[in-house]
Amino acid sequence: MIRPVALRTWRRDISSWLDRWFPKTPAKSVVALKTPIKVNLVAGKTYRWCVCGRSKKQPFCDGSHFFQRTGLSPLKFKAQETRTVALCTCKATQKPPYCDGTHRSEQVQKAEVGSPL
Ligand code: FES
Repeated sequence: MIRPVALRTWRRDISSWLDRWFPKTPAKSVVALKTPIKVNLVAGKTYRWCVCGRSKKQPFCDGSHFFQRTGLSPLKFKAQETRTVALCTCKATQKPPYCDGTHRSEQVQKAEVGSPL
């Protein structure tokens, strides 16, 4: 039989662990770069676009969102055709994962790389 005190301690430990690794309020994305990156997408292949801006493999996810406990997740998408596209790295695009030119805005250009907008 589990003692009530042990059960409460266990629940507090689990809750603390969950809060640490899966924060309820996600962090803000940060500006990774201020220009898009052109990549060759292959039809039918699935990609994971970095949403948090912390990946060292821009514009794709390297797992940093998880290890830095951002509460964010990458955007998974499947290429419909083989072609070269410009993927956003400023993380301010309105058409993720594609660049829509928002990086040219004053707000993005004045922002520090590695900082949220
Ligand atoms: S790089 Fe983000 S909109 Fe162009």
